[in-house]
This record gives sequence, C-alpha cells and structure tokens, in this order.
Amino acid sequence: MAPARIIHTPEEISRIRRAAAVTAQVRDALAQLAHPGMTTFELDMLAGDLIKRTGGKSAFKGYYGYPGNICISMNDTVVHGIGSPDQLITENDIVSIDVGVSIDGAIGDTAATLSFKEPDADVKRLLQGTEESLMCGIAAARGGAFVRDISAAVEKCARKHRLAIVREYVGHGCGIKLHEPPQIPNFTGGGKGARLDPGMVICIEPMLNLGTDAVKLDRNDNWTVRTRDGKWSAHFEHMILITENEPEILTWQKTM
Ligand code: MF3
Ligand code: CO
Ligand code: CO
Repeated sequence: MAPARIIHTPEEISRIRRAAAVTAQVRDALAQLAHPGMTTFELDMLAGDLIKRTGGKSAFKGYYGYPGNICISMNDTVVHGIGSPDQLITENDIVSIDVGVSIDGAIGDTAATLSFKEPDADVKRLLQGTEESLMCGIAAARGGAFVRDISAAVEKCARKHRLAIVREYVGHGCGIKLHEPPQIPNFTGGGKGARLDPGMVICIEPMLNLGTDAVKLDRNDNWTVRTRDGKWSAHFEHMILITENEPEILTWQKTM
C-alpha cells in the first residue's frame, strides 16, 4: 500500500498559506522581542498576546494537553520545552521557539533557534548546520520526488556538519490538522516514503545535536525532550507547499 498523504484543495491552500504567513510573523516578532533577562514564561505570554492579535489561536495549547502557547526549548532541550517562570534566559543560552497558529480552520507551524551573542565555534556549527540542513531538505522537496529524497538531503548535510540526528521526532504533513501524514524523517532507512505531489503541505524540521543523538523525556512534565548527554541541540522548521517544481516556503520571513 502506498504511504498515506494529503493533497489539499486550492481553497484549503489559500487558507493554509495565510495561516503559515501569520505564524511566520509571530515567530519573527518573537525573535525580535526575546532577550536575555526575561523568563521563558514571559516569552510564552508574549507569544500568547501576539497570537491573539492575529485573530487566531495557539495550535499547540491543549494539543494532547500541552500547556504552553508555544514550545520554548533552551540549550540541551531538543523540543517541546514549556515556558517557566523559573527559567531565565541569559545571553549565553540558545532558545528554540516553535510557533503554531490556528486561524480560519488552517494551521501554521514553524520554528527557529535564537542566540543573543556571537556563539562559540561549536554552537555556531550547531545553529548554522541545522538551518542549512533544513534548507537542503527543502531544496530536495520537488514535485515528483519522494520523502526519502528530503530525508537523504537533511542527513547528508547534518553529517557534513558533524551533527547527530534525533530519531524519535520527525517532520510531518500539516495544514488543516497540526500533524497530518506523511511523516518526514531527518534520516533514511525507512524506504522511499510518499511521493511528493502538488498540493501537499509538509513541515521539515531537523532536530540536530552536538553530542549523541539519544534523547530523554522529562518524567515530571512528560513533554520536555532533552539530550541524554546534556550537550546542546538546535531545531529549525519551515512549512512548505509542494508544487510541480521547487516548493514554496510558506513560513518565509515576514515583518509584523
Ligand atoms: N510544533 C511541534 C512540531 O513541529 C509540535 C508541538 S506539539 C505540542 O511538530 F503539543 F507540543 F505543542
Ligand atoms: Co513545530
Ligand atoms: Co512541526
């Protein structure tokens, strides 16, 4: 049986395009406003305000009981970190913000990892290597290609930068629901996966580590995912529309 996938209608795509643009605006506004000296809880509240101003709502809050407006993952946290009044952001930290907005029955999902000063060589390699791996994955997502082509491109780029690939979490179809088929792994080995055809909308989101690929789930909150070795991790995510040729990046930079 061919792997499941969703081809969105033109009417859905116009709503999805708008939701993705709004989500990118919130991501970029937060990237401008985030600063050392604030807590991750304050950043989450700010995200809540910005999302409200768009007329949409958080696509994450309440999703399987997730408590935050956005996911805020610092340093050795890989994904799904929850803003906390006890967690102060300092200029030495790196902070992944993952934003999801639900508006007019459509959803946007995008992430970026921020730094506040010139990072040391390894952290720079982590941030640049992860973002570049995302862009390599996007370049491979041409109409008629397969999910495996994206996975292979991300994997090759991650390897080039000597970064470990998290295997427990993957990219995904998106658009009307937050997580739709197919899954988009950042590594190969699972077959060629779904064929990419115009009208598919997918999130590509490499999660790459400086040390081992192994991660662990926080036993207290059941959400926060950290590296096992405590070394740092980065996460970048774009939502793209598959076309006949190169994909359209729906969460490209916008100014709010
Ligand atoms: N934004 C995540 C993703 O990229 C999903 C977050 S689900 C939540 O797929 F419940 F943690 F918010
Ligand atoms: Co996301
Ligand atoms: Co996602």
